[in-house]
Amino acid sequence: MKKIELIKYGIANEAFKEVELTKPSIKPNQVLIDNYAVAIDPYDVKFRNGDFGTETQLPVVLGSSIAGVVLEIGQEVENVKIGDRVIASPHLKTYSHQVPVLSKQVSLLPENIDFVTGAAYALSGQTAYQMIVSNLEVTSDDIVLISGANGSVGTTAIQVAKSLGATVIGLVRNVDEKNNASKFADKIVDSLEGIIFTKALDTVGGQVLEEILKNNIAKVVSIVDGNEEVHSFMKSSSKSLNELSKLVLDEKAKILVEKIYEFNLDNLIKAHNDFEQKKYKMGKIVLKLKN
Ligand SMILES: NC(=O)c1ccc[n+]([C@@H]2O[C@H](COP(=O)([O-])OP(=O)(O)OC[C@H]3O[C@@H](n4cnc5c(N)ncnc54)[C@H](OP(=O)(O)O)[C@@H]3O)[C@@H](O)[C@H]2O)c1
Repeated sequence: MKKIELIKYGIANEAFKEVELTKPSIKPNQVLIDNYAVAIDPYDVKFRNGDFGTETQLPVVLGSSIAGVVLEIGQEVENVKIGDRVIASPHLKTYSHQVPVLSKQVSLLPENIDFVTGAAYALSGQTAYQMIVSNLEVTSDDIVLISGANGSVGTTAIQVAKSLGATVIGLVRNVDEKNNASKFADKIVDSLEGIIFTKALDTVGGQVLEEILKNNIAKVVSIVDGNEEVHSFMKSSSKSLNELSKLVLDEKAKILVEKIYEFNLDNLIKAHNDFEQKKYKMGKIVLKLKN
C-alpha cells in the first residue's frame, strides 16, 4: 500500500514522492475508505504549484476527491456500513490507497455509477450542485449564465440548472470552437453584449467576473478567489452528493471523463502536467487504483 506525498512546491516533475502507507487509524466519526479512484481537481494542482502560498509544511498528501469501498467505520457512524460503495470530497488527502474521511462527507455511490465517474463528480460536481441549488437558488423562472461553461463545474452546473427548469446560457472562450457546453446549455455565447440573465455562476474569475458583474440586476456567485462579495466555497456534504448522484443515475447529469490513468507516481505527475497543459479539455482526468 502506498501514498503519494507532496514534498516540494512547484513543477509536478519534482513535487511528489511515493511512500509506503501504514494502515490509517480512524476517529469515531470517520470511515476508512479503500480508494478505487481519484480525480485531478484544479485545487490540488494549484496547491502543488504554491498558488495558495507555501506556508503549509510539507510533506502533505494532496487529492480532494475519492470513490471507493468502506473498510472500517468509527463507533459514531450511522450513514454507511462496511462494504458500501461510496464517494466523498475530503480536503487534501486522497492520493493514497486508504483514506480516513468524516462520515458526514461520505455519500453512497449507486451501483450503476462506476468509481471513475463517482470520483470525477465528488468535488467539481458537488460544487456545481451546491452553487446552483443552495447558493443561487435557481428556479424555472431563471435565465442562468455560467462562465467556464466547458469545464467540470461548468458542464455539471448547466445540467443541474436545466434539471430545475431554468434556461441556461454557457459563456465560453469561442463559440466557433469545439464546446462541451453546447451539448447541455440552451445557448452558448462568447461575449455578454446584449445577453440577459437573472443569475450567474462564475467559474473563471478576473476579467470574466468583472464583465458579469456589470449586469447589476443578476444574483452572482463566483467560485474563484478575487471578489469576496460574491465568492463562495463548496462545503463538502453527503446531502449534496446524494442529490447529485440521483441526477447522474437518472441521466439528468452526464459527467464527462476524458482520460483515465492507473494510479502511480509517474502517472500522477503526467496527469498534473496534462491538466496544466490543457491536454484533455473535454473531460476530467481520473486516476484509478482498483477496478
Ligand atoms: N470555491 C470552490 O469551492 C471551488 C470548488 C471547485 C472548483 N473551484 C475552482 O473553480 C474553477 C473551475 O473549476 P473546474 O473544475 O470547472 O475547472 P476546469 O474543468 O479546468 O474548467 C475551467 C474552465 O474555465 C475555462 N476558462 C478559463 N479561463 C477562461 C476565460 N478567460 N474565458 C473563458 N473560459 C475560461 C476553461 O477553458 P479553457 O480550457 O479553454 O481554458 C475551462 O473550460 C477552478 O479555478 C477551481 O479551482 C472552486
